Amino acid sequence: MPAYNIFRRGLLKGTAAATAFAVFNQAAAQTGAAGKGGRSDPAPRELHGQPVPEPPPEKSAGPIRPGRGSSLAGKVAVVTGAARGIGRSIAVEMAANGADVVALDIAGPVSTASNAAPATPEDLAETVRQIMAYGRRGESIRADIRDIAALRAAADHVEQTYGKIDIVVADAAIQRWKPLLEMEDADWRDVIDNNLNGTANTIRAFAPKMVARKSGRIIVLSSMQGKHGTRDAASYSASKWGILGLMKSAALELGQHNITVNALIPGLVDTALTRYDARLSEAIRETGREASSSPTPQQAWDARAPTVALKVGWLQPDDISPAAVFLASDAAAMVTGAEYEVTAGDSAKDI
Ligand SMILES: NC(=O)c1ccc[n+]([C@@H]2O[C@H](COP(=O)([O-])OP(=O)(O)OC[C@H]3O[C@@H](n4cnc5c(N)ncnc54)[C@H](O)[C@@H]3O)[C@@H](O)[C@H]2O)c1
Repeated sequence: MPAYNIFRRGLLKGTAAATAFAVFNQAAAQTGAAGKGGRSDPAPRELHGQPVPEPPPEKSAGPIRPGRGSSLAGKVAVVTGAARGIGRSIAVEMAANGADVVALDIAGPVSTASNAAPATPEDLAETVRQIMAYGRRGESIRADIRDIAALRAAADHVEQTYGKIDIVVADAAIQRWKPLLEMEDADWRDVIDNNLNGTANTIRAFAPKMVARKSGRIIVLSSMQGKHGTRDAASYSASKWGILGLMKSAALELGQHNITVNALIPGLVDTALTRYDARLSEAIRETGREASSSPTPQQAWDARAPTVALKVGWLQPDDISPAAVFLASDAAAMVTGAEYEVTAGDSAKDI
């Protein structure tokens, strides 16, 4: 048994703490100083001679060790929306940090209520190529997150093939840019169905595998547009706001099974989802300026960058993925029900 655990048991039982502490310090000394191989505050936890309870090891980030917030060695991850953009970045970054990764995507048309050109099977294959280039196992699954039966079949397949599912990232989504009063039914309904119902389907299909193993990490993708209203993108904004309610509710329900559920909140990121005239035009209008219906990307950057703390017009997908790795890592054991913003400081303006 590691010295650290002996130390903890001694504390919890209120016995042999001094002996365990000595063993702990000896182990720490072998790996470096106390605080390097072990916890940074090695003093016994007690109050008036009574031991102070601690979270059990499986519900703790454990002692400090190098790289614990970036290592996913031995983990198995499933990422939806992984054919391109932020989903691909997260899938590849997880592989780069040691995980086997299953990339799930529809890789084709989603709805008329999408401003982006559809992702392709070639896009999805490229994600798998990049995963495997890191020496990890990887494969693609073409599935629609609106189809919960397909997601349940995918969950069964991944568990049978890889033995477990440690991490699920619900990234797949579409965006519709249209004034509320001009929306067709599909512009409202399909965005909510795809983004909110699809994210709930993903949790409902994969989380039972995690419950059975009493361990798991679920990361959903919301948006800054899920934290404030968005002119001309009401259905998207509502779907991303709903995802935060879903995330917090799932965190409350699944915490007892040692499963964390968190939302990653990117700022504006340059992907197929956002690279179109109406989005660039609104990026300028959000700064209070007049905008043409088809501004150049440089005009949008120049208008927006001064309003963002880090003075960039937008981020890149690879700026977002490191935070997903942290949330999926052992180090994030105590992070759940949280909104993790990666916005270059855009979120500093919002409540
Ligand atoms: N790009 C941004 O500025 C930004 C900002 C905040 C949040 N986000 C969120 O990040 C996530 C990824 O966005 P992105 O910019 O990479 O978009 P993207 O369009 O580049 O990628 C989205 C992927 O999801 C897939 N997808 C969509 N609906 C699907 C379905 N029903 N079933 C399976 N796959 C489906 C698409 O095929 C595509 O490959 C989304 O949840 C988005 O809302 C993006």
